Amino acid sequence: MENPQHNLAMDLVRVTEAAALASGRWLGKGDKNAGDKAAVDAMRLSFSILDIDGTIIIGEGEKDKAPMLYNGEKVGSGKGVKVDVAVDPVEGTNLLAYGRPNAISVVGVAPSGTMFDPGPSFYMQKLVVPHEARNVIDLDAPVDDNLKKIASALGKDVNDLVVFVLNRPRHNELISQIRKSGARIQSHSDGDVAGSLMAVEEGSEVDVMMGTGGTPEGVLSACAIASLGGEILARLDPQGSEEKTAIERAGLDLNQVLNVSSLVNSEDVFFAATGISGGTFLSGVRYTGSGATTHSLVIRGKTGTVRNIKSRHNWEKLMQFSAVKYD
Ligand code: FBP
Repeated sequence: MENPQHNLAMDLVRVTEAAALASGRWLGKGDKNAGDKAAVDAMRLSFSILDIDGTIIIGEGEKDKAPMLYNGEKVGSGKGVKVDVAVDPVEGTNLLAYGRPNAISVVGVAPSGTMFDPGPSFYMQKLVVPHEARNVIDLDAPVDDNLKKIASALGKDVNDLVVFVLNRPRHNELISQIRKSGARIQSHSDGDVAGSLMAVEEGSEVDVMMGTGGTPEGVLSACAIASLGGEILARLDPQGSEEKTAIERAGLDLNQVLNVSSLVNSEDVFFAATGISGGTFLSGVRYTGSGATTHSLVIRGKTGTVRNIKSRHNWEKLMQFSAVKYD
């Protein structure tokens, strides 16, 4: 038996809250890079006070030259435990810029050496399901077969299912196959981390997340799925010859089917996400004049504890010492 240990996720939520509070000011302003930069700066500063020896394995930005916490960057005071870090200061930069739901700030942390390093891979095919359906899916099976098996594992009919899909031309065939199967669709312009979280979260409106999205987002989602108990099956899915060649040169296997434990190979995972714009499962930042409220999901893999944290932030007190200007 062990005594209760430090839950790093409780520290990480302060990092995602800071990023959400700083970037929420950019909701609907049409400038995705400014919103992202505000979140990146707040996140970097908040990491610096954490006693971890962190290396960013999953950073963001190279795909679209956005401001970034870059891969290989060291985060934390350098004093504590050696960890791999996955960040997405704003997951859904367009959602934030155009005032659409489900922009979130996300961080995952796992023991050093346990996170899948996607190298030059930007895109990944993903299939995410809840715990009950974890053993019935096959990335190479026809869409209809997977949906039938998922529905049966969940004790539902196929036409009860809701599948989260990013609205992209590359998904036209997938969408038509889902429709043919009888399942229903939630079509989103961005944000497949939120889609993956919704697929594995009990009681959400989504049962399955399908389609090709960012590889970093896949690893980040795996940090939550490792703790929440669902499954993600994934395969690198380059969207152009340049990306394909870079992946091959890096020695990554384009045929390998990855699952939650190949994406993050530890139960000792910590995950935090804070809503920026309002969402269907996390509320967005609400500025109240004298402060703000935030809503976060905080997960510790080892114990399986999932916390929904609603925080009230007080400008008068916070602004006396905060290096980030939130008000
Ligand atoms: P950003 O936060 O980098 O804008 O990513 C949003 C997103 O929708 C992800 O959720 C998704 O994985 C990826 O983009 C899909 O990429 P693309 O927009 O190039 O299809």
